[in-house]
Amino acid sequence: MEDLNVFGHIKLAPPDPILGTAEAFKKDTHADKVNLGVGAYRTDEAKPYIFKAVKEAEKRILADPTLNKEYLPMRGLDSFNSLARELLLGKGCAAIAENRVATIQCISGTGSLRVGAEFLKVNVNPPAVYVSSPTWGNHLTIFKKAGCIVREYPYWKPETRGIDIEGMLNTLSSAPIGAVILLHVCAHNPTGVDPTPQQWDQIQNVITQKRLIPYFDSAYQGFASGDLERDAYVVRKFVNEGSQCLVSQSFAKNMGLYGERIGALHIICRNKVTAEHVLSQAEIVVRQMYSNPPLHGALIASVILADPALTQSWKVELKAISERIIQMRVRLLEELIKLKVPGDWTHITSQIGMFSYTGLTSQQCENMINKWHCYMLKNGRISMSGINTKNVAYVARAIKHSVDHSPKL
Ligand SMILES: Cc1ncc(COP(=O)(O)O)c(C=O)c1O
Repeated sequence: MEDLNVFGHIKLAPPDPILGTAEAFKKDTHADKVNLGVGAYRTDEAKPYIFKAVKEAEKRILADPTLNKEYLPMRGLDSFNSLARELLLGKGCAAIAENRVATIQCISGTGSLRVGAEFLKVNVNPPAVYVSSPTWGNHLTIFKKAGCIVREYPYWKPETRGIDIEGMLNTLSSAPIGAVILLHVCAHNPTGVDPTPQQWDQIQNVITQKRLIPYFDSAYQGFASGDLERDAYVVRKFVNEGSQCLVSQSFAKNMGLYGERIGALHIICRNKVTAEHVLSQAEIVVRQMYSNPPLHGALIASVILADPALTQSWKVELKAISERIIQMRVRLLEELIKLKVPGDWTHITSQIGMFSYTGLTSQQCENMINKWHCYMLKNGRISMSGINTKNVAYVARAIKHSVDHSPKL
């Protein structure tokens, strides 16, 4: 009998542009290699960081004889859901008091977006989902996977290395009624450029007038500015001004719980009855995908958020982390100026959050990777958390060499 290769027709998948960079970095044995692709915080010693508040929460969880390993309900851990909601929307939020926020614990930000996308497709069937150009690559595929039509709105203006607010508003103005508009709450990935409060007003006006559905992606609350309240500005503004919207919330970056996969989906509804119906439908989505979410990360986050002293110590650490990143922006800019690298590099310090969109061409990025072992995305995005006091001068020299030897096209 012929020996059939049942799976032999399957082709090798192309490496993920972000995770593939991490793999290539790992394989490189060069002493000076730098990981500028990493989407996770690194200390000044280039090491992963575990929050002291997380360690303390884990100690308490281990010592608690009342806890067990039973399944969670489809919606997740109730204490986590309400604390996560309050962290995002703020104490005294009317939508919370009126019980019109449907919250479901999800598998971090990605899982939340996937559940949100599926929920929308099944229950709302929007004419299109608009994402910024550029955006975090997974946004496009997550919504496409759910069967949504994905379109882009302009966001980045290379000439100013800032927002293309006119292009964005024009595209949103011509979007069909009921289209979903995906917005990054803060620390836009990959550009590091957020709208100003005035620009958010303009965006909100178009969304309201054109009856579009805002969908906020909150992956960096507190990580961007070091201030949880400030980083939640736009979500709170929309919700407090009556917006019905969705929010995907992640605790990967701001609690350093990358591997725990802890996040939530919040759907802000017109009234309590609608929120109950919405939650029941979101639970069906979860039931069919993975039944119920994991427990451990939800326990860690809720132990931290339920104890004011622990919350305070977490906030202090979060501030220190975001300050290190801001400091590295300043140091990198200083080095680039010192080396007289052609061009204006002030966007390095005006951008915010984990990433900087350097403006390097793909040819220049290749030079960074191949000649200097500085691993980064080919679209010019670098992770500021990969930069530290020991390698900042080296990275600046790499940028200088890449710019000098591979001029802009
Ligand atoms: C904009 C944005 N959204 C969502 C996520 C999802 O992250 P996670 O699934 O780890 O919570 C990320 C992670 O890098 C991100 O940058």
